[in-house]
Amino acid sequence: MARTFLPFAAPSLGEEEITEVIETLRSGWITTGPKTQRFEAEFAEYMGCKHAVAVNSCTAALHLGLHAVGLRPGDSVITSPLTFAATAEVIHYFRAHPVFVDIDPHTLNIDPGKIRSCLEHPKQKRRFRAVIPVHIGGLPCEMEAILDTAKENGLKVVEDAAHALPARHKGKMVGTIGDITAFSFYANKNITTGEGGMATTDNDQYAETMRIMRLHGISKDAWKRYTAKGSWYYEIHEPGFKYNMTDIAAAIGIHQLKKCDDFYERRERIARMYDQGLANVDEILLPPRCPRVSEDPENGSQHAWHLYVIRLNLKRLTISRGEFIDLLKERGIGTSVHFIPLHMQPYYRKKYGYRAEDFPHARAAYERIVSLPIYPKMTDADVNDVISAVKETIFAHRRRASVPAYPRETAEVAL
Ligand SMILES: Cc1ncc(COP(=O)(O)O)c(C=O)c1O
Repeated sequence: MARTFLPFAAPSLGEEEITEVIETLRSGWITTGPKTQRFEAEFAEYMGCKHAVAVNSCTAALHLGLHAVGLRPGDSVITSPLTFAATAEVIHYFRAHPVFVDIDPHTLNIDPGKIRSCLEHPKQKRRFRAVIPVHIGGLPCEMEAILDTAKENGLKVVEDAAHALPARHKGKMVGTIGDITAFSFYANKNITTGEGGMATTDNDQYAETMRIMRLHGISKDAWKRYTAKGSWYYEIHEPGFKYNMTDIAAAIGIHQLKKCDDFYERRERIARMYDQGLANVDEILLPPRCPRVSEDPENGSQHAWHLYVIRLNLKRLTISRGEFIDLLKERGIGTSVHFIPLHMQPYYRKKYGYRAEDFPHARAAYERIVSLPIYPKMTDADVNDVISAVKETIFAHRRRASVPAYPRETAEVAL
């Protein structure tokens, strides 16, 4: 019997957000203004970083971040193929080139060893300016190794933390580690403003550049020019972009941020329920776990659980990944796939001549991954429905051949 459809993702918005938006509309100040400033200050405090620059998407934050670190036409930027369009698209905005290196098959994050071998390859001719690690699903990348390699090779680190709020790597908040970190507040993200993003940094110059460039490259605090304290006079120092956050969005963000830790607790609990409920299903590999901050404050990490990605052992099943997704849908369970690797997309295949097998771990992961629903609004009954639907679908389509099982326990990652 199909249940009422459980969407793959849904935001958790309460009366606080609604009241603050109404108050903002009534205030007469609806675009960038005091609410955006407050959201930035509170975000920086929550993060423990010096600057937080609010923008209208994570894509904008990545673009501004690459601009701030000085990406130039013809430069190259290393990133993961297993990511969303935005991560590599922004590199093209500069007429620069994304260079993919494969993922670690265990974590699904970029493999730091492969970053090093790419940079230090004897025949390497490219001019690399930056690396964009993507904390896929909210599991932090191995940042120490990435930072060391970047430093030794003169690269800046602009993190794609669209999935990673609140995440920690070895006790440190993601958002305080690389040169610049970009967050997303898109509708399905861990906190939302409908559309929105934030760039964090401890570097004054980067923050200043991003603040100016997010609003047409015009002089500091351009948004104030229509207030009693502002001045009509402004200067354009560089042609910029239209990336500023509105106060209507910030009004939502202020309250979402207050709930960020509670949202995280709920996501974590759902992940634990999935871990337990699916532990004995040999046809599934569960997502990797990292040693928790609560267990080891200095060396522990925190998975933000934006996604709960299982991998199907297709050799043990009589159905494909696509059929598995369709069968879950028939049972009223929404799922998704994160992501179709970029190097397998027509644009990248044509422009750079990439073949699917160039990044075998990204390709192999792609063929097996399914993201299960995970968001604070889900009830325990919803989670149990997903567990039952997954198990029953798997059990009904088991292949009885003797193919090796995935390891039974949830994989542990030493990050
Ligand atoms: C890994 C990753 N990076 C960047 C983005 C872009 O975020 P936004 O929609 O806020 O621009 C997304 C959006 O889903 C994402 O998943």
